[in-house]
Amino acid sequence: MTWKLPYSPLEKINADYCEISLYLKRDDLVHPTIEGNKWRKLKYNLKNALANRINTLVSVGGAYSNHLLALSQAGKHYGLKTQGYIYGSHADVHNYTLRACRNNGMEIFPIAKSLFEPYKKGMFVLPPDAVFIPEGGSNMLALEGCRELYLEIEDQLPDVTHIVLPFGSGGTTAGIYLAKKPQVDVLALPILKLNPVEHLSRIYTGDFSGLKYSGEYHFGGYARFNDELLTFIKAWHEKTGIVIDPVYNGKALFALCDLVEKKYFPEGSKVVYIHTGGSQGICGFNERYNCALPERKY
Ligand SMILES: Cc1ncc(COP(=O)(O)O)c(C=O)c1O
Repeated sequence: MTWKLPYSPLEKINADYCEISLYLKRDDLVHPTIEGNKWRKLKYNLKNALANRINTLVSVGGAYSNHLLALSQAGKHYGLKTQGYIYGSHADVHNYTLRACRNNGMEIFPIAKSLFEPYKKGMFVLPPDAVFIPEGGSNMLALEGCRELYLEIEDQLPDVTHIVLPFGSGGTTAGIYLAKKPQVDVLALPILKLNPVEHLSRIYTGDFSGLKYSGEYHFGGYARFNDELLTFIKAWHEKTGIVIDPVYNGKALFALCDLVEKKYFPEGSKVVYIHTGGSQGICGFNERYNCALPERKY
C-alpha cells in the first residue's frame, strides 16, 4: 500500500500583483480519489485503523459533507467499512454527496436534532472493531498529515512568508500552524462565523495567539452565499481554469484577492494559498440550487 504520494504541485499565479509573489498549492490534486485536506487529515487515521485491525470507520456530518464523501472513498480504496451519521432526520439522503457515499459502500443514518450533541462528540455505541472520526476529520492524527503538508510547502518554497487557507473545523490550520517556522505567518479565513484562535485554543493544546485571521469573508455563515461570490467563482475559473467550491475555497480565494488588493501583504511577500479540494461540493450545490458553477472533470 503506498502512503507516500508525490508532492502536490505548487503553481505560481501570474498575478497582476507584482509587488508580491502568489502561489497556489494544488492540494486538490494530491490523491487520485481523496482530495486536498481530506487526504491529509485521513492519512494517519487510515494507517492507524489498518495497523490496529479496525475494520469500520464511523463519522458524522451534514448532508453535503466533503468529509463523509472522502471517508467513503477512503473506505472503498483501503478495504474498510464506513458509516456516516447525518445531521437531521429530514436531511436529503438522495443528494449528490450521499448518493456518492452510498455508491462507495457507506451506510447512512440520519439522526434527529436531539442527538446532534452526543453524536458530534462520538458518544454513541459503535460497532465492534470500529473507530470514531470526528466531524471534518479533525483529530490528533489529522494534525500529523497537515504537518506533512506544511513541510512539503517549505521544501517547495523555502522562503515562503505567508500560508493562507480556508478555516472550517480548524484541523488543517492547527496542523500547519503548529509545524511552521516562527517567521512564517499563517492566515486563516473562516468560512463561518467564529474566532479561529478561540476555537483552536478550546480544542488543541498549543499557543495559537499568533495565528492571523480575517473574519470578514464568511458571507453570512456556513454554506451561505450571494451573487457576488458566485460571480467571483465563475470569473476565477475563466481566468485560471481551476474549479473552486462555494463553501470553502470560493470564499477564501475571494478573501485572498480582496486582501491582496488592499495591500495586506507587505512588498516582497511570498504567499502560498492552499487549494484544499472540495470539488464534489460543487455538484451538490449545482443540483440543489439549479446553478451552473464549473465542475471538476475527472
Ligand atoms: C474543501 C475543504 N476545504 C477546507 C476545509 C476546512 O478545513 P478544516 O475543517 O480543517 O478547517 C474543509 C473542511 O474540512 C473542506 O472540506
